[in-house]
Amino acid sequence: MAKRIGIATVGGDCPGTNPTIRAIGKTLQSLGGYELIGFQDGFLGLATNDTIPLGGDALSGILTTGGTILGTSRDRPESVHLDNQVVDATETIQKNIKQNRLDALVILGGKEAQESAYKLSQRGVRVLTMPLTIDNDIVETDATIGYYSATSVAAEAIDRLHSTAYSHHRIIIVEVMGRETGWLTLAAGLAGGADVILIPEIAYDEEAVAGAILNRLKEGKRFSIVAVSEGAISQDNRRFFEHAREINRKLRKGKDEEQVTRRLEALEEQAAGNTMHLAHQLRRFTGLETRVTILGYLQRGGVPSAADRVMATQMGTACAVMVHKGVTGCMVAMQNQAIVPVPLEQVAGNVKRIPLDHSLLSSARHVGTSLGEQP
Ligand code: F6P
Repeated sequence: MAKRIGIATVGGDCPGTNPTIRAIGKTLQSLGGYELIGFQDGFLGLATNDTIPLGGDALSGILTTGGTILGTSRDRPESVHLDNQVVDATETIQKNIKQNRLDALVILGGKEAQESAYKLSQRGVRVLTMPLTIDNDIVETDATIGYYSATSVAAEAIDRLHSTAYSHHRIIIVEVMGRETGWLTLAAGLAGGADVILIPEIAYDEEAVAGAILNRLKEGKRFSIVAVSEGAISQDNRRFFEHAREINRKLRKGKDEEQVTRRLEALEEQAAGNTMHLAHQLRRFTGLETRVTILGYLQRGGVPSAADRVMATQMGTACAVMVHKGVTGCMVAMQNQAIVPVPLEQVAGNVKRIPLDHSLLSSARHVGTSLGEQP
């Protein structure tokens, strides 16, 4: 009787997903005695038992394709969108896993996918995960599949914007994805030669940013490129919200403190990455014309880079071998180029932020990039 392995792609999609599915499927085929069952649209498909067989032909020709052949969704087991309602489908998912006689379930996705998989493993589901997200914000792994492709897309965009910024003597601000971490912005900014790189890990001083641009002006460089994370926040906003939280704690102890705290957090998230406001400030401080480009979903789409195809193949084949060996409750991680299983309890709920002593930051400073810090 062939062993049955389920696979699903969960959360934000990324280039490299199909090469990963291909690597897992082809390795199981070469090991023999396995049947790979795909669940469509993440946990929604696991809740509705929406499956497709991933036999030989399904895995052909997908190494160089973007997106995920399985589809995905932002649904989580405890919050699945079904018939215009949001339901806790955890037990239904477990029932479907049993009904499909799965020997193991492989979940591909970002931080939320790791957390959901960990909860399922705690309920006895045999699950392995892989780190796939353009954000590179998953702990215990050197990098995530999708990160290198998105870095290339964002860096190429910055290259293109250099010529028009130069021609028009403008400041062009490029907003880069990455949620609450700056890995993608820092890598793309370094690769694209951005003059300023602003990341969530370092609250930036608007006047310091303007000063860096004015210094370039004094050197005769009448344009600047600013790469800013969608989650970056100014020092002024950071101080404002810290003060607001302090007042909330003092004035509303025990009353609706929690409700106001949640509201403040929502407002702070909106204030973060307020790229249009930053553009307005830089125009005001420097007198230069300023334009904004938000890269958005360009960073999530398109053909996976060679680096991501290699990483997806290296990690996906290792994942299948771990399935074969009965490894469970782990994320397949790359650590110093070795592929190792990391227990999900070490991954779930954690975010990999850029350490403030990271060499990428010192490299940026050494080549004269402003990180929005006072000189
Ligand atoms: O997690 C990947 C990511 O692209 C983030 O960088 C971005 O903030 C988020 O997904 C966007 O989420 P959605 O695809 O749900 O709009």
